Amino acid sequence: MHQTRFIRSQLAARLGFLLMVPGATAFALFAQTTNPVPVLHIKADQVTARVSPTLYGLMTEEINYSYEGGLYGELIRNRTFKANQANPVFWSVVGKGAISLDTNRPLNSALNVSLRLDTGKASENAPVGIANGGYWGIPLRPNTAYHASFYARGEHFKGPLTVSLVHVVDSNSVTVKTPPGVQVFPGEMTETIATATVPKISGRWQKYELTLTTGDIEPSKENRLVISATKPGTFFNKHGEVWFQQVSLFPPTYNNRPNGNRPDLMQLLAEMHPAFLRFPGGNYVEGNTIAERFNWKETIGDTSQRPGHRSPWGYWSTDGFGLLEYLEWCEDLHMQPVLAVYAGYSLRQQHIDPGTNLDSYVQDALDEIEYVIGDATTKWGAQRAKDGHPEPFILNYVEIGNEDEFDRSRSYDGRFTQFFDAIKAKYSNLQIIATARVTSREPDLMDEHYYRSQEEMEAQSHMYDTRPRGGKTKVFVGEWATRVGSPTPNMAGALGDAAWMCCMERNSDLVIMSSYAPLFVNVSELTGPDHSMQWRSDLIGYDAMTSYGSPSYYAQKMFSTHHGDVILATDSENIPTYTWHPAARRRNGVEQARPAPREVPSLFFDATRDSQSGLIYLKVVNRLSTSQPVEIQFSGAPAVEAEGEAVVLKANSPEDTNSIQEPTRIVPVTETVDGLGADFTREFPPYSITILQLKTQ
Ligand code: AHR
Repeated sequence: MHQTRFIRSQLAARLGFLLMVPGATAFALFAQTTNPVPVLHIKADQVTARVSPTLYGLMTEEINYSYEGGLYGELIRNRTFKANQANPVFWSVVGKGAISLDTNRPLNSALNVSLRLDTGKASENAPVGIANGGYWGIPLRPNTAYHASFYARGEHFKGPLTVSLVHVVDSNSVTVKTPPGVQVFPGEMTETIATATVPKISGRWQKYELTLTTGDIEPSKENRLVISATKPGTFFNKHGEVWFQQVSLFPPTYNNRPNGNRPDLMQLLAEMHPAFLRFPGGNYVEGNTIAERFNWKETIGDTSQRPGHRSPWGYWSTDGFGLLEYLEWCEDLHMQPVLAVYAGYSLRQQHIDPGTNLDSYVQDALDEIEYVIGDATTKWGAQRAKDGHPEPFILNYVEIGNEDEFDRSRSYDGRFTQFFDAIKAKYSNLQIIATARVTSREPDLMDEHYYRSQEEMEAQSHMYDTRPRGGKTKVFVGEWATRVGSPTPNMAGALGDAAWMCCMERNSDLVIMSSYAPLFVNVSELTGPDHSMQWRSDLIGYDAMTSYGSPSYYAQKMFSTHHGDVILATDSENIPTYTWHPAARRRNGVEQARPAPREVPSLFFDATRDSQSGLIYLKVVNRLSTSQPVEIQFSGAPAVEAEGEAVVLKANSPEDTNSIQEPTRIVPVTETVDGLGADFTREFPPYSITILQLKTQ
């Protein structure tokens, strides 16, 4: 299908040993200038296979504050007070109030703790209350309506409660005179941005909802939600008290969905045209323990009935972003779901043996599938309709677990078989994905994960060219990334990714699906005890206010939005190479022998054609620090027009990157190009990814 003849220059071949000695850089430069020009042969009349329509998708889980403090629109951190059993973390007291967690007066069995506020010292001039600063800030924008809600009950306190959005103007260690419209709390000066009042608080749990609308303000994230009392409620020696649960604040969301998603992140994803979404993990589907798995039945229905659980990535998830929210996310972006079901293994080596003990978990998976695709006459389809989505979703792929090769009990083969048989018996059309090697059944797909350095990604960039075909099992590269750069990958990462994507696209008869991981990272606090990042090198970064795509994001967007529907046969000559000296690996704390140096290509490419328009997409990746002339020869094509288009992502250095401060430093540029034809030579810039779009007549 694709053959590539790597050569090093004649000089390099003769003087290769010089690479080992000081001065190798000078040699490398000299060697490059004498290299014969690489030639790419595109055999336009030889279609090797169809490009898989599902090749480019997304993978997601709760990691790096992906939903909580990320995609999920909720702006209040620890809204259910369950993030820490001992303290109301991320909440502070306003004025001379006192707050504490209380398990004696729960809202319900799911949200079985509440925040108690003693209002006894409240007065008109010195309100007491509770305040929350969100996930590293609460973003407020001008002339915008925010939906606030909370459950409350009072004892000896009947209200009113004032709900405000306040902007933290400054902090002060001395007393500040109060200018009009500015309140002074000890230690800081805040300005009220929007406010509304709940006049009366019931003695029983009740939900209160309000709209807070901002005026002509500067956008900022240095804000808080404050709920405060100006009356003590105290009657003789009875203290006024008020209990809170599920204190929530939502901005406008994507497609205006209630309980919906953050628009800027959805927009970044929409622009990638992803074909599918693999969810809910990753490690998140497994949990650290069986009790902490993604127990989908506890993530549906009214959010106040969802208990939440601890993510294996070390923080609390309210599960406000639950199964239906994943599915609606798919619907909003026209992606098909790839549903990973819990398969009886959790990360701390807890597992359930195949057999009757596993039956209830298999049934949970069947119920989950029914929730997704059953009509309203089925039990779980009816539940979905009750939850607000009468129409069944489309589902073609179900994944059994995640990375089950880590299960040291070696029980996966048996567990997989039990899930596979039960699912196929009820839903014969569903494609079943295995996450570790199995022998007793033939999975429809095998999920392979690759986290690599740039060099390793490039060294493996022909890995699927020679993988035997013929078996039933296709490949789903369900997690992959070139892990260079943090918190988000830099240009070196994007170059490794592009080399790898050329490989997957060229082989997409076999690799029918792929998804980069992780997708998201909140970059607000990268290190320290309350770090927002658990995994470095993530595709998209954000803080409370803004977001950005990494160079890898742009590389992927280029690939997923520029390809044909058929793969063309290719060949090459004189592909330049570099020598990679892989580092020694450690196994069980012991350093292994250093692997032998390897010759790795430094130019990567693949070609596809759109059968309707005849447009040929030629992707070329130059990882070198110098521009690279390449001769491109088409055979078997109708004439190639002289004018075409090039989309180019490039950088001055492999370390160049995007960030929250410089979100668009590295972005693709589209330009018209001339001088194309059946045989032409083009210079590809240093550190560049180019997609040439060639019109054929
Ligand atoms: O993507 C981060 C983690 O890497 C995933 O949760 C897990 O599947 C893999 O080990």
